[in-house]
This record gives sequence, structure tokens and C-alpha cells, in this order.
Amino acid sequence: MIEKQSFRPRILLVSVGMFGQKYLAEATGHDVGGDVAGVVDVAPDLAERFPVIAEKNIPVYTSLRSFFERDRADLAVISSPIHLHTSMVLECLKNGAHVLCEKPLCLTEGETLELAEASRKAGRFLALGWQLNYDRAVLALKRDILAGRFGSPLRFRCVHAMRRGRNYYARSNWAGRITVDGREVLDSPFMNACAHNFQLMTFLLGGAMDEPVGLKEMKGEVWRGNPGVENYDIAALRFTTDGGVPVSYYTAHPLKTKNLGQDGLAEFEHGTLTWGKGRPFRVTTDTGETIDYGMDGGTPLMQKLYDAVQCVKDGTAPLCGPKAGLAHLQAVRMAQTLPIRDIDPSHVEWLEEGDDLFPCVKGLEDAFLAAAEQWALPGEIGLSL
Ligand SMILES: NC(=O)c1ccc[n+]([C@@H]2O[C@H](COP(=O)([O-])OP(=O)(O)OC[C@H]3O[C@@H](n4cnc5c(N)ncnc54)[C@H](O)[C@@H]3O)[C@@H](O)[C@H]2O)c1
Repeated sequence: MIEKQSFRPRILLVSVGMFGQKYLAEATGHDVGGDVAGVVDVAPDLAERFPVIAEKNIPVYTSLRSFFERDRADLAVISSPIHLHTSMVLECLKNGAHVLCEKPLCLTEGETLELAEASRKAGRFLALGWQLNYDRAVLALKRDILAGRFGSPLRFRCVHAMRRGRNYYARSNWAGRITVDGREVLDSPFMNACAHNFQLMTFLLGGAMDEPVGLKEMKGEVWRGNPGVENYDIAALRFTTDGGVPVSYYTAHPLKTKNLGQDGLAEFEHGTLTWGKGRPFRVTTDTGETIDYGMDGGTPLMQKLYDAVQCVKDGTAPLCGPKAGLAHLQAVRMAQTLPIRDIDPSHVEWLEEGDDLFPCVKGLEDAFLAAAEQWALPGEIGLSL
């Protein structure tokens, strides 16, 4: 029998060139409880960009197949482009590895169910990289919400937009695309870069610790501000949960402000929750009590890696399983049905900064903040972009 304390899971890092480099840095720079067995990536310049790979004698493969033909892993961490996730997850499970896959897991509910079933059959967990679901403050807050400490939820909203320009879209062939190589990818700020705070709201509203809430309706407005992008890159959306709670979200990439928000507000029968960057999750109850979650500087981004390795050791599974992204996926599919309106080029100014170039839609920040203030979509209060 393997001695639990001395067992160090072998970790395969799949795609380390962009976001995945955070896993590489963590797993090679700190004791995460396991050891890197190999890296799979097709980028030709990995060795130059990441000298640690040679320093630590980490073998590099260009496909999962070539890795699994020669070696085995207890945990595969997948940070590949979204449209590759499904086939990669299946291949890792088939080869006996537990999987931590970056968000979003896949593009349809059917694929989610297929992957969940494959994980069950293989007897290996499938965890998702929605980092806020590993955040100790968020987990404590959700436990209190589920216990009814603040009464029923009434309405939720969040503004979170991040400026992204030429370099962001040039980094890969799927950025901003609806399809790539004939496959759906549906990339947008709502689908990808600014998805976390929306997913967080669906998680906090979910009826169990491992479940998000279901969504039934949507009203929304989406625009394309960057003429070089295929999909929408500005979205104002309002969903209604299965329980009838409105959830509004405002997100975009072509704006002057580097980071707008995160600025979240959630009203309950007996309290109001606020959160944002650098601030704790704070509930002010109707008796005037203030309850802060996450005063200790917050849970590190890479907590998900530590939790996944520990679960491999313990024979358990992270709470953030395949279901965690279902509401976000439902929402992405609903938003994708909206007509995309092109912003008039005269409403876009171009900002050069360093070696990057950013389209900035004039007045976008003010329109979002005014709409959010009134729990409305911009068009509902007579604002246009
Ligand atoms: N959790 C977060 O905060 C966060 C932040 C950014 C990105 N992400 C997620 O990480 C994932 C990757 O995003 P990204 O922006 O780093 O993507 P990217 O396209 O910029 O980079 C992906 C990496 O995959 C590699 N790659 C491409 N094809 C491959 C193949 N066939 N086999 C192996 N490797 C391959 C590329 O060489 C590159 O190193 C996405 O799911 C994204 O949503 C998560």
C-alpha cells in the first residue's frame, strides 16, 4: 500500500505557454505536494522562455499521446485553448490521470455531462480551474448563504471589464473568435477573460456547495467595439435564475480604463453583500452588523493546484467539479444568440501604450456604471454606445 504522506503525485502540465505558466512556476518554484512529470505543449520556443524546464530536467512532449506512450501521471493540469479541452480531458482520464482543467471546461452542456460521466467511469476526478470556487472566503460566505444567515437572495449584479488590445488578440488563433478550425470557441470577455465574477454569482446562488444555480431567462445587449474581433467584446446581460433572482453583468474589453470593477453587489432579504478587487466580501445585515470574509489577504490563485494535489493524495475530489461551470455555460450560449451590434468607428478612439494598441469605446465606462446603478441594461435607460 502507498504510504499516504510520502506519496507525491506525478503532475503532467498540459500547455504552459500563457496562463499555464502560472502552474509551471508554482509547481517548479514551490513544494505543491507533487512533482512535475512532464510538459505537453506545441510552442517551439518553450525552452527559451522557460529555462526552468531544462534546469529541472522536465521532459517536454508535443502531444498527450507521446507522453502517455512513455510515462504516466497521477494528475494532469490542462491550460490549453478552450476548444481542445474536451478531447484532452478524455485522453487524460483514459490514461488514468485525475484532471484539473482550466475554465471554461467545454462549450456545451452535453459535453459537460459526457466528461462528468467519463470521470465517474474512470474513477478519477475532473476538477475545474474556477479559482474563486477554491477561495476560502467565498466558501465560508456560501456556507452562510446556504444556512440562510441573510435570508433569500433578491438580486445580484457585477461590473467587471478589462482593457484588452492588439497583443491580447494576436497571442493565439482563437482569441475573439466564434469558431476556429471549424470548431466553436465562442471567445469573448464574458466567455473567458472576465467570466469569473459572473460564475461566482451563479456559484453563490447555487443550492449546494458543489452546484451553481440554474438560469432560465436572459435579456441582453452585445456589441463589437474592436473591428478586428469576430465575436462581441462588450456585453450587458441580465439573467433570471430558476428561483427568479435577477443576475446582471456588465463586461467588455475595448475600454479606456485598464480594469473597471470588479464591483459586485448582492441584495438579500436581511443583508447586502459587496465585493471588489482588494476588498473583502462584506455583508452588512439589516441589524447593522458587518461581516467580512477574506480579511487575510485572500486565497492565492494557485490554491486550486494545491487542493487538487491534496485530493489525489487523499482519494477525494475538489468541490469544483464539472457542474461548477454549467450556469456560466448556459449563460454564454444564451448571450451568443443575441445580435451583435457594431460600434460606429467614430465612437472608438485608439490608444497606444507601450507596444500595444487599444480600441476604446467612448463613454463605455459611464454607460455601464449608470446602467448598473439602476439594475438596467443601457438601452433600457436610453443609453447607446
Ligand atoms: N483561471 C484564470 O484566471 C485564467 C486566465 C487566463 C486563461 N485561463 C484559461 O486558460 C486556458 C488557456 O488560455 P490561454 O489564454 O493561456 O491560451 P493561449 O492560446 O494563449 O495559450 C495556450 C497554450 O496552449 C498551447 N497549445 C496550443 N495548442 C496546443 C496543443 N495542441 N497541445 C498542447 N498545447 C497546445 C500553446 O502553445 C500555448 O502555450 C483557457 O481555458 C483560458 O480560459 C484561465
